[in-house]
Amino acid sequence: MTSALQLEFLDLRHFSAQHLHPLLEEESALWSQRLHWDYRNSASLVLQYVESHLLSGYAALDQGRVCGYIFCIYENNKAVIGDVFASRRGVDESAAVAIELQLIDRLLETLQHTPNLSRVESQLLLHSHDLHRGPFEQAGFHLYPRLFMELDLRPPELPQTSSAARPLATEGPGGGHYRPWSSSDFDLSPQVITSAYAGHIDSEINDQYLSQGGAQRFLHNIVRFPGCGIFEEQASWVLAAPNNETLFGLLLCSRVSAGVGHVTQVCVPPEFQRRGVGENLLQHCAASLRAGECHAVTLTVTEQNASAVRLYRRLGYRVQHSFDAMLWEKRPG
Ligand SMILES: CC(C)(COP(=O)(O)OP(=O)(O)OC[C@H]1O[C@@H](n2cnc3c(N)ncnc32)[C@H](O)[C@@H]1OP(=O)(O)O)[C@@H](O)C(=O)NCCC(=O)NCCS
Repeated sequence: MTSALQLEFLDLRHFSAQHLHPLLEEESALWSQRLHWDYRNSASLVLQYVESHLLSGYAALDQGRVCGYIFCIYENNKAVIGDVFASRRGVDESAAVAIELQLIDRLLETLQHTPNLSRVESQLLLHSHDLHRGPFEQAGFHLYPRLFMELDLRPPELPQTSSAARPLATEGPGGGHYRPWSSSDFDLSPQVITSAYAGHIDSEINDQYLSQGGAQRFLHNIVRFPGCGIFEEQASWVLAAPNNETLFGLLLCSRVSAGVGHVTQVCVPPEFQRRGVGENLLQHCAASLRAGECHAVTLTVTEQNASAVRLYRRLGYRVQHSFDAMLWEKRPG
């Protein structure tokens, strides 16, 4: 590979799917190895958007071959940087990271000079904590370390002494009952999300948690769109009020590869917190996944969210990887 200085950087919309296909195949293998995540569905979505010349971002070219890419998605006055990746083939990790840093630099410069864009969010799940700190910090971003945690669902690994060994509760506080998710819960869920995340650090990182409309978009992406694995209705659980018209807690789970589930959301409104709801939702989810022949369940959590991290550790989840979430907001005026 030529030195990073000889690379060319071009708008992603110049390219078609076939130019990026080998890179995304390589990236998919890394997602699978590092996070047990079958990235092929997400990769094919990215390729569809590239093919339609709808995806904003940059490609890095080495002697005419695409060796790296970065993309973002616009949502009103916000941009979300979805991914950055440079090929590791034939180069060491640091050379690939150097290309990723240049891609980030370019995209940030573009975004920060885009009129009416007041917010940029990103979570680079595949990449380790601190690896891409430089350009984000220089551009005035705030960084939030996050953890990728995993629970082994195979029997010998279960924490036998913990509450995991007890039968699962079917009834919860407020006269509520635990039951699997049903499609009618979709409309009841934004309210749970906005109340659980009011004033919470995660709603700084993801402003969808701050409004009903934002929470609806979040749910749409998780439940109806295959961007973050395939939604697993049977392993998603709620604590429903006796009349089934309100939820006192919810957990959403997706299948991210043949034997692995991923908790994409778990939240409980403040008035029902610290009464065992979070623990029960997680235990029901683990039992459903085990019954569905999954061998592991994963989740991500902001390191600063100490009580959630404590809960997951207590249930046997272990940290496998740490990564960063990034946020930039334009100063008013
Ligand atoms: C994280 C979250 C889902 C946990 O849900 P929860 O229902 O409060 O969880 P639990 O009640 O099972 O456990 C929380 C704590 O309450 C304690 N607790 C449980 N039942 C209790 C009871 N009857 N009396 C006193 N304490 C109790 C637990 O021991 C645990 O204590 P710890 O913080 O010292 O470990 C919830 O706090 C939440 O929605 N937070 C905002 C959103 C969020 O952070 N989601 C996770 C993102 S990764």
